Amino acid sequence: ETTPVAIIGAGPAGLLLSWALRDAGISSIVIENRSQDYVLGRIRAGVLEQGSVEYLTNLGLGDRLKAEGMEHEGIYLQYGGERHRVDFNDLIGRTVTVYGQQQVVKDLVAAHRGAGATVYYEAADVAVHDLESVTPSVTFIHEREEHTITADFVVGADGFHGICRSSIPAARITLFDRSYPFAWLGILADVAPSTDELIYALHEDGFAMHSMRSHAVSRLYLQVDPADDIANWSDERIWEALHVRLAVPGWSLTEGAITDKSITPMRSFVASTLTYGSLFLVGDAGHIVPPTGAKGLNSAISDVTQLAAALTAHYRNDDSLLGRYSETALARQWRVQQFSRWMTDMLHRSPGDLQSDAFDYRSQVGQLDYVTHSPLAQRMLAEQYTGLRL
Ligand code: FAD
Ligand code: DHB
Repeated sequence: ETTPVAIIGAGPAGLLLSWALRDAGISSIVIENRSQDYVLGRIRAGVLEQGSVEYLTNLGLGDRLKAEGMEHEGIYLQYGGERHRVDFNDLIGRTVTVYGQQQVVKDLVAAHRGAGATVYYEAADVAVHDLESVTPSVTFIHEREEHTITADFVVGADGFHGICRSSIPAARITLFDRSYPFAWLGILADVAPSTDELIYALHEDGFAMHSMRSHAVSRLYLQVDPADDIANWSDERIWEALHVRLAVPGWSLTEGAITDKSITPMRSFVASTLTYGSLFLVGDAGHIVPPTGAKGLNSAISDVTQLAAALTAHYRNDDSLLGRYSETALARQWRVQQFSRWMTDMLHRSPGDLQSDAFDYRSQVGQLDYVTHSPLAQRMLAEQYTGLRL
């Protein structure tokens, strides 16, 4: 088999790139090692930047997004038992849309299916070859048959644990990372959200957040120890902690049946290059952010926007964008890294020694006091949260 572009990974990045290329008249093949049900069942991010919404809509993926996505004009920041609103629309005329990553993937899977696109699910032993040549290839086993796909380009959209980044020789790539001494416990609950917009809260017991997936489904998060086990968190204990950390006078949190709960570690990670020969990395394969700024999925979409344009230009005999892809995508990504780290450090308790910890907490409250009262600081938050335009 041959194809112009072989894409490894059917997460949001891989499926969207394939769809965007198809829109430009370029065919591609997607190779995924998990099942379609597994890919569709993964619950992850929930907030789309305005630019992400526009991109999906321009590619014909906006129908359900427009009908079911919830446009939010701001967020709440909470600390010291007080809740303050930051109004993005008022500040800069931009908004975000709450629409689960699961829904984005569902729309992409349906679009690909409708168009008869080639996506190999449950591909085993996926390997990439001859990346330094102009005829790279991908081999894998699908339904007991060995496949070899020869392409002009291989795209690594295979997430943080994929095989593409690690196929770049160590001498050609440097990995920059930072880990955090906390993790997020996330739940999905069958209950109408107790808030109209997302609440990000700093509490002495740790960070808490109230998000949502629809008018009937709430998504909530708690800062926990990364070594903690989800088995230690009964539904009662989770709601109890959420009530305490999200409390403000005159407001109450409505409980509901918890349908999913898990603990996710947090890390910041960026590869020094997204390109090696004929290989291009997009999304989590090239970089990871801690989730506090809601930038993981949006960064994957931003990479796809850039790589799709670069590959389209290549097939129209202009290689300048492709040559600059890694540089331009990483320049944006480092700004996003800075924002995600800033949001994370502002809103989480650092479990250090007691004295520095007490100092840090009061300093974080001072920071939140400033951010929620300074129009300049709010504008800075609004610009980055709703999505940088470069
Ligand atoms: P992925 O979604 O990881 O997709 C990669 C795909 O490649 C997967 O389908 C995988 O099965 C496949 N793959 C892997 N290895 C191979 C292989 N060898 N061969 C073939 N296919 C392979 N971001 C937020 O903004 N907010 C959140 O709340 C949030 N929560 C998250 C929770 C979890 C548990 C995780 C892991 C991430 C979360 N993120 C969140 C980050 C966000 O979901 C990611 O940034 C986003 O999924 C990136 O998309 P992607 O397509 O690059 O990677
Ligand atoms: C969600 C996740 C985030 O990381 C965030 O900052 C906001 C919302 C969510 O899953 O809904």
